[in-house]
Amino acid sequence: DPEAVKKGEKVFKKCKACHQVGDTAKNKTGPTLNGIVGASVGARDGFKYSKPMKALADSGAVWSEEELAAFLAKPKKYLKGTKMSFVGLKKETDIVAVTTYLKSFQE
Ligand code: HEM
Repeated sequence: DPEAVKKGEKVFKKCKACHQVGDTAKNKTGPTLNGIVGASVGARDGFKYSKPMKALADSGAVWSEEELAAFLAKPKKYLKGTKMSFVGLKKETDIVAVTTYLKSFQE
């Protein structure tokens, strides 16, 4: 649904200060997010994750849509000590929209 992707692109403005997607995406303050839905947690090459994110990665965690939604709603509550300095997305509809947007960058 192109409309849903467009709405998600708007929400992604909140993420853009730290994250990139697309062919030219690079790790910045945050890791690249191409293909992140369904991907292993904390597995982007060359990105230096926080200790708790590394521990979550070592447990074999995957960014299912459910886990991603919980993280994006309240990052600091979902993962105590994460270095993602973002309050979270209040609206469930924004979480769904940004997830739809991210899914348009699955390789
Ligand atoms: C990590 C998404 C906003 C900085 C992550 C991860 C995801 C994500 C999925 C985990 C990546 C992985 O496992 O490789 C988002 C989305 C955002 C957002 C969708 C907007 C709604 C931000 C903002 C910042 C930021 C605004 C900077 C102020 C980071 C950092 C990490 C991270 C530093 C690594 C966390 C750690 O190692 O503990 N983000 N993010 N993010 N993000 Fe964000």
